[in-house]
Formats: sequence, structure tokens, C-alpha cells
Amino acid sequence: MASYRRDLAVRASVDQGLLSPSEPVVALLDTAGIRTSAAALTSAFAAVTDAPVLHAFAVKAAPLVPVLRLLHDAGLGVEVASPGELALARAAGVPPSHTVLDSPAKTPAELRQALALGIAVNADNLQELARIDALVASAPTASPLGLRVNPQVGAGSIGALSTATATSKFGVTLRDEGARKAVVQAFLDRPWLTRLHTHTGSQGVPLALMAEGIKEAYALAEEINRTAGRQQIDTLDIGGGLPVNFDSDEETPTFAEYARLLADTVPGLFDGRYRLVTEFGRSLLAKHGTVLARVEYTKTSGGRPIAVTHAGVQLATRTVYAPESWPLRVLAYDSEGHPRTGETTVQDVAGPACFAGDLLATSRELPLLHPGDVVAVPDTGAYYFAHHYAYNSLPRPGIHGFTVADDGAVAFTTVRTPQTIAEIVAESGGAHADALLR
Ligand SMILES: Cc1ncc(COP(=O)(O)O)c(C=O)c1O
Repeated sequence: MASYRRDLAVRASVDQGLLSPSEPVVALLDTAGIRTSAAALTSAFAAVTDAPVLHAFAVKAAPLVPVLRLLHDAGLGVEVASPGELALARAAGVPPSHTVLDSPAKTPAELRQALALGIAVNADNLQELARIDALVASAPTASPLGLRVNPQVGAGSIGALSTATATSKFGVTLRDEGARKAVVQAFLDRPWLTRLHTHTGSQGVPLALMAEGIKEAYALAEEINRTAGRQQIDTLDIGGGLPVNFDSDEETPTFAEYARLLADTVPGLFDGRYRLVTEFGRSLLAKHGTVLARVEYTKTSGGRPIAVTHAGVQLATRTVYAPESWPLRVLAYDSEGHPRTGETTVQDVAGPACFAGDLLATSRELPLLHPGDVVAVPDTGAYYFAHHYAYNSLPRPGIHGFTVADDGAVAFTTVRTPQTIAEIVAESGGAHADALLR
């Protein structure tokens, strides 16, 4: 279904002039797909618990105001990790009651703003808790307050994304000497500290390991509540981190599988004593974004065919710099946006940037690409085209939402306008051209 909609959207992008020789790269978001994922998440948890659950979308995965508004309309909240992300959430109309602030480096001003707004805050460490002590003492706040812990259960297959290693930079470690005792004491000393937060998953992390991390956080909450003699911790924030399948259009693993695994591994999590917060990012958006780029030239080098396209490191930064960890599919379409089928040839698909490693795919079996063809890069709705990398002053592409009517007609709506060359000049000190001459 998603591939049917995508094929129609590729063709319509060409027909309607969204993708053209003068606009050679665009990004598409499948609105129906996003709504379907949001509904799947909500129903997956509703199937295993009657406890109230706030599903706070991790804004870092797709920092786009219309996306946040769509998800909020679908009943979700947001997890923000910077003043910019908080501003996006507010611009999208997400209320403080549906907003959670996590980040490892919150300034006093950020904390003050969050507490004044009544946004939930998860402190990353004990120094930050000391800052919050002073703020709580100086002005009343409606913010639910929590502490992030690192259960140190181990890494997944991508080191840079593994948050629960022995030496991860996030949260208060639980297994270091004396750490657990200090965390319990921090709660006993602060009756207003009512949440425990952990985020142990990510791409490359097995579900069983994620569940293990949550089990550790749950056990700690139980210990704190027992020691306090009351239900001091009333909310567990279990983070996001469900991995995404980048190999095919299949959406695996599913939210339902994960919720069932949690119910089996940590039954007490869902028995109604705790409110829950989740923070999924990638798993809600990745499958619903597609980058389209025109092939500008084709050539052979050392006998290998290469298609030079307009999508490269500026959009797929992780893939270009760490291709083993972040492989992406590339789909071939002709210049009218029809899928290219038939015989395949091993070829490289290159981006437009001026360094040799700017390759979206190497040695990939694809129908032979021609100048003017279109390549589609699916599964890029999270952490790709909204995280622009300004190499070569390449512009941020336009982003368009699309819907497909029953008769196959595709309607586009602007999510973000393409960056103009004038904007690039302005953002690159254009107003200060003489600054270094003085
Ligand atoms: C605290 C926190 N929550 C949620 C997420 C979202 O993770 P994912 O997109 O893998 O679901 C992240 C990602 O880095 C995170 O740091």
C-alpha cells in the first residue's frame, strides 16, 4: 500500500512540476502513513494497559511544525531536547501538558522556561537536579519532574546510537559504585521528584535489550517507592528507540510486538500503578518519507557505471559517512516517474557534493540509470531530509506532504519551502561582507 502510494507520488511529482530540472531534489511525506503509524502506536499500548500513556514524539526525528501538528491531532505529544525543538512544538500548538523536555545540557534559562510553562522535565544528572532544587524553591511550578537513569545494560550494533552502555553520556548510571544508592537518596530528598526516565533503545538495539533496560528502571521505581513508603514515582518514561527496517517496505518490528514484549518482560509496568510516557521518533516517521532526486549525469569510472544525482551527503549524512550502519534503498524511475524495471546493472549512485565519498549507494544492482531519471530514496522520513548538512552550500530541499485519493489522484501540500540561494547568502554572513576588513 505504501509502495503503491509512493509510486503514484513519484509520478505526480514529475507531472505537477515539483521535481524538475530547476528543482532537482525534493522530499515527500506520506500523510496517511504517518497517521497509520500514530494509530498503531496508540492501539499497541492500549491493547496491553489501561494506564494513561502519553506518546511523546521525539521531535529530533522530524523537526517540522506541520508534522508535530499532525501527530498532535492524532493524539500524540512531543519530546523536545533543545530550545529550538521546544519552539517548534509551541508553534505547532502542542500544549505543555503534552510536552516533555529531555536533553543532556539544559541551561538554567531553559530549565526556568520549562518550569514556568509547566512542561515535564527529566533531569539528566544530579548536578542538574541541584539546579532544579533552586528553581523549585524560588517559584511554584506545575512541571512534573523526573530523573533519567542509564541501566547500563549494553550496546546495540551501532555504537554511536547506543545509550545504555557502561560509559554512555546520558542519565545517571545505575551500576557504577554507589550510584544506585545516590539515586534513591535523591528521590527521598525531593518529594516533588515523581518520574523516572530511561531511553535505552535505538537503531541496532535488540528489542530484548530495550526491554531489559526498562525492566531495570521499573525495578528501581519499585525500590524507591518501597523505600519512600508511598507511590512517590507515579510516572515511568520509557523512551523511544524502536528500530526501523531499512531493507524493504515491511514495517518491522511493530509497536504491537514491542508492547507485548514489554508486557511479558515487565508485567508490573502495565498494571495501572504507573502513568507512562513513550518517546518514539524514527519508528513513527522513517517509513513515510522519501527523497526524490533527478539524475543529472551518468558516466563510467574504472568500468563501474555511476549516476550523479542531487541527493547526497546534504540529506543522507549518516548514510554517506557510515554506509555500513545506515544503508538506504534506492529505487529507479524513468524521467516521467514510472518505475524502471527489467535488467539490472551494478552501479554507484552519487550525490552532488564535491568529495569522493558522497555516495548514496555503491555497487548496487539497479536498472541502468539515465540522465533525467529519478531516484527515490525511501525510509528517509526520520533523521534524514529534515537534518540538513550544509556542505557545498547545497540548499535545504522543499518538503511536501501528499495524500492519494481513491481514484489515485495525488494532492501535495507544502510542509517546508525549499531554501533559496538568497537565504543561503544571508545565512552565510551576506550582511557582514566587510566584517573581516575592518
Ligand atoms: C531521550 C530520547 N528519547 C527519544 C529518542 C528517539 O529515539 P528513536 O528515534 O530511536 O525512537 C531519542 C533519540 O536519540 C532520545 O535521545
